[in-house]
Amino acid sequence: MTWSGSTPFNQPPLSLEPNTHGPTAQRWGVASAFAPGKCILFGEHAVVYGHPAVAVAIDQGVRASITESLEWKLEGMPFDPSRHPHITHIIQSVFHYDGPPLTLDVQSGLFSAAGMGSSAALSNAVGAALHSHLNADEPLDSVKLAKLAHSAEATAQKGRASPTDTATSALGGCVVISGEHVEGTRHVFDTSLVTPEGRREWSINVVDLSPRVREAWLVMGYTGVGSPTGRMVAKVAKLLSESPERSEDMEDISRITRAGLTALSAGNLEALGMAMDACHERLQRLRVSNPLLDRLVVAARPHSMGAKLTGAGGGGCMVALTEDPQRVAEAIEVAGGRPLVSRLGAKGVRVV
Ligand code: PMV
Repeated sequence: MTWSGSTPFNQPPLSLEPNTHGPTAQRWGVASAFAPGKCILFGEHAVVYGHPAVAVAIDQGVRASITESLEWKLEGMPFDPSRHPHITHIIQSVFHYDGPPLTLDVQSGLFSAAGMGSSAALSNAVGAALHSHLNADEPLDSVKLAKLAHSAEATAQKGRASPTDTATSALGGCVVISGEHVEGTRHVFDTSLVTPEGRREWSINVVDLSPRVREAWLVMGYTGVGSPTGRMVAKVAKLLSESPERSEDMEDISRITRAGLTALSAGNLEALGMAMDACHERLQRLRVSNPLLDRLVVAARPHSMGAKLTGAGGGGCMVALTEDPQRVAEAIEVAGGRPLVSRLGAKGVRVV
């Protein structure tokens, strides 16, 4: 189905005259929202087995703008719902939008399919922009948005999606996702999803970053190769079934994650960096790193407190913690990566 013209969801054609009554009163003008991307500091892959993962929101993200128009359009092209299941789910199933056609414009500062949470940021930004378009007087509820963006991700990914990216992008700061509450964190909400493998439940918590951590920098290095999350998760599952002793690495990652959390709240950058290095070593043992990622990690380390791959691995990005972002960015570039510099724990989704 191509979503162009004025009847995307079998609605009768609507005129462009401002509608001043009804649930979706038209507002002329642009509604825009910005949602940040994320970087996983600790716990990738282990979180799939119920251990905690820690992610921070980054400065770069996705901005979505919505205006009413004569035709449904995305980036100036006719909107095709089948190609954009996240956006379609938000407009149709979450907001039950029945107003006039919309034009959506999206600007992204994230590498896509690189473990930076670009599709979650898109879902959050579109959800927030649409909320602002329809209910300009109601404040944005970031927990509600995190849940709706998670449902959009799940719809787009055949029922499998962890809430890591959507919760971090919605709440901002530093988010801890786990099968159960993690000591030393503040609980925000619980969420669940019925997946093809059964019902999964997560506890979403936050940690206050110390001012010293907020003064440090993350430099992410993109390998230029996509990060195939589903394939890497399946690869780890196969490794664990063939070599059950590798679950020791999962236990190690869990311990390292908890040590990293303590370092994040205490502002101990040296300990934080050491924990990142240790986490990378365990991820190498789980065979999710590759020569490209290792090369960027090695290049970044002389000017960093610590460095590791971030996200699913197999491509995507690595991340280094540093007080000298310029040198690390240069080192990553010389080693063949594309650097992106951010502070830790940017603000969550907002109407702009
Ligand atoms: O690369 P990303 O951002 O999709 O990270 C995936 C993190 C995993 O732990 C490997 C998978 C998951 O669902 O948490």
